[in-house]
Amino acid sequence: MNNPRIIVALDFPNKKQALEFASRLDKNLCRIKVGKELFTIAGPQLIEQLMVYGFEIFLDLKYHDIPNTVAGACRAASELGVWMINVHALGGKKMLIAAQEALATKKTKLIAVTLLTSLNKSDLHEIGLHEEPIDIVQRLALLASNCGLDGVVCSAMEAQQLRKIIKKDFCLVTPGIRLPNSNANDQTRIATPQEAIRNGADYLVIGRPITQSPDPLLSLQQLNHEIEAVSNTVITDLEI
Ligand code: C5P
Repeated sequence: MNNPRIIVALDFPNKKQALEFASRLDKNLCRIKVGKELFTIAGPQLIEQLMVYGFEIFLDLKYHDIPNTVAGACRAASELGVWMINVHALGGKKMLIAAQEALATKKTKLIAVTLLTSLNKSDLHEIGLHEEPIDIVQRLALLASNCGLDGVVCSAMEAQQLRKIIKKDFCLVTPGIRLPNSNANDQTRIATPQEAIRNGADYLVIGRPITQSPDPLLSLQQLNHEIEAVSNTVITDLEI
């Protein structure tokens, strides 16, 4: 698989567990996401090690600061050789442009978080955001696109809305994925891999359905089959 669409969220508390788990995966079947907790404890060394295993890495640190600081952080992350990084779209246009310009000559993809899915309407109201969440998400996604970013993180439901208004090559990265009849854990707005792909997602961030599986490689293979089945249907539809 040249462009695996599953990004495994490596949500482990330390480097040893993270590396042990990654060694059970197949770099041809997935990419890997490293977030704040693991990066804070294990740092760039872990990223280097995962790259030695051959994985492409999404470094999920969600930068949000003044433009100059974010640009520097993006440059530093890109120099680690990671595949994708992200920033908060709420940092505003100047910050997004500074981040994008810092990566202009680099291969690293830059995406934005629009609204954190943990914020409900009353949380948003409290910080002065009175519109419907989906309207804010759409506006921030368009802002990210206009600033030259490569995509956004969004729920599978938001992906369907965003696909209607945003250019085709803008990539949508979707967490909250579960197989039918599986444990939702603490996720509330979940979608199956097939629903997410049909809604226009390009990449699916999947954690516990793989990290807590008794056979992670088998789960990864099954999830990829689900995705391939629906991707093939989409191609057949287009051919007809
Ligand atoms: O275990 P699970 O599949 O729920 O993991 C999803 C991953 O995606 C976690 O690393 C989580 O932090 C991340 N994420 C999310 N929802 C968002 C953004 C990121 O679940 N809106």
